Amino acid sequence: MKFKLGIIGSGKIGEALLAGAFAKGLYLPEEVILSVRTEDHKLDLERRYGVTVTLDNRILAAQAEILILAVKPKAIVEILNSIGDAFVPGTLLISTAAGVPLDVIESRVPGFVAVIRTMPNLAVSVGEGMTALSKGKNVSQKQTEIALGLFGAVGGVVLLEETHMDAVTGLSGSGPAYIYIVIEALADGGVKMGLPRDVAIKLAAQTVLGAAKTVLETGEHPAKLKDQVTTPAGVTIDGILELEEGGLRVTLIKSVVKATERAKQLLHK
Ligand SMILES: NC(=O)c1ccc[n+]([C@@H]2O[C@H](COP(=O)([O-])OP(=O)(O)OC[C@H]3O[C@@H](n4cnc5c(N)ncnc54)[C@H](OP(=O)(O)O)[C@@H]3O)[C@@H](O)[C@H]2O)c1
Repeated sequence: MKFKLGIIGSGKIGEALLAGAFAKGLYLPEEVILSVRTEDHKLDLERRYGVTVTLDNRILAAQAEILILAVKPKAIVEILNSIGDAFVPGTLLISTAAGVPLDVIESRVPGFVAVIRTMPNLAVSVGEGMTALSKGKNVSQKQTEIALGLFGAVGGVVLLEETHMDAVTGLSGSGPAYIYIVIEALADGGVKMGLPRDVAIKLAAQTVLGAAKTVLETGEHPAKLKDQVTTPAGVTIDGILELEEGGLRVTLIKSVVKATERAKQLLHK
């Protein structure tokens, strides 16, 4: 096949994956083909990445070894119906669409196409994404490793049963948005107490990064790490009291629940 990687629908997540893969040196521009819907977007991507870009999705189905589907959930079925007969054996088709089950995809492509459903997040663009993968029926061990390698190069990766994918969508798929709000709110607190805005945002963002890194690198339960910061009768416990009274914990839990429920409806709404 002519291209190692194809991305149908290079919008926010498609481009984030491309940027992350290029930053890690996974592909050369001549090994990549993208498709979009509009001529303006095509020209813009060609100019910025030096890759082949087309408006014809069938070219990608026929010529890309790994084909990532990164269009809106509602567009998936129509696109698959229009490219289904263009696939050639050996293709690994990877969907990033929220709420679109593997069987919906598998039933619209030839049996020789291996399908993997993923849920990445936008931080793949900076090499710190989080992606969950679910394998379809015809995925070989080698193809699983290829997908784990690709998404693992641009962040964390886990292999999960498909039943968990909507919850992944509600947690790590949507999660960057929740955390941006947390960062903004922490920074507002700093500004309220007189810190310059840019300094406050830096303090807040680096604190989130450091806390996350500590959880991942120590493997400790977050509650234990929280206790280490919280001196008896000290400063932090006063902050925590306000945070609990404001219901941050319950609010975050309910956010994940609501977003998960919404993910289940995406294909049809
Ligand atoms: N955004 C996230 O944080 C995120 C995270 C995880 C998963 N996802 C999933 O990723 C998918 C894409 O989301 P997104 O946020 O990246 O959406 P987006 O920014 O709207 O990008 C969608 C892209 O699809 C292109 N497109 C639309 N119809 C097409 C067609 N018929 N053929 C080829 N390209 C077509 C559009 O091209 P034009 O620009 O030319 O119109 C656009 O570039 C969704 O299924 C979503 O569930 C998103």
